[in-house]
Amino acid sequence: MSKIIVAPSILSSDFANLESEIKKLEQNGADWVHIDVMDGHFVPNITIGAPVVKAIRRVTKLPLDVHLMIDNPEKYIKDFALAGADYITFHYEAAKDNAEEIINLIKSYNIKAGISIKPKTSTIEIKKYLNLVDLVLVMTVEPGFGGQKFMTDCAKKIKEIKDCAPQSLIIEADGGINNQTAQYCKELGVNALVAGNYIYSQTNMKEAVASLR
Ligand code: DX5
Ligand code: ZN
Repeated sequence: MSKIIVAPSILSSDFANLESEIKKLEQNGADWVHIDVMDGHFVPNITIGAPVVKAIRRVTKLPLDVHLMIDNPEKYIKDFALAGADYITFHYEAAKDNAEEIINLIKSYNIKAGISIKPKTSTIEIKKYLNLVDLVLVMTVEPGFGGQKFMTDCAKKIKEIKDCAPQSLIIEADGGINNQTAQYCKELGVNALVAGNYIYSQTNMKEAVASLR
């Protein structure tokens, strides 16, 4: 089995010290930096925008995995692309008929494109995009907040996607990931794991990151 990509979510980090928080992730073996963008419409919370992504880009070479939990994602792809994102993932529920255009727009900036589904969205709805995207992000909590409980039923979608996806597709799980739920996701075929609360609540971050692999 190939190596699991660990993508800590900075949503649980100290925003007053973002640079040192990012350096800490680098030193403790993180593969990517997961950045949760929320607009107060698609989800009830408001978090980070493109200017902050641009600032993060200046202090790390780690791939920036930008998770857009926003309405009208097509309006903001350019800003996040120019800010230095490596992966941009939008929500299928926010795009619907526009999904293919949004994927092409992301790719037009030479950036990897991801599509995400909320807990109530079936994998059948995104089947036709599996050959077009680089990554599928399976939400294992309702998007909006860190620190929620992992939804086991949602994780089953990892296998459903794995069974019909091209080999190169990255399947990423996000929400409620800890050393135990990570194990379950790996059995189902996950390639990348996002974790916020778990990684930032452990006393030894290096061990926490390693425990997800
Ligand atoms: C939830 C975000 C997640 C979140 C994960 O809306 O997409 O990335 O920060 O946090 P934990 O690991 O705390 O569930
Ligand atoms: Zn996320």
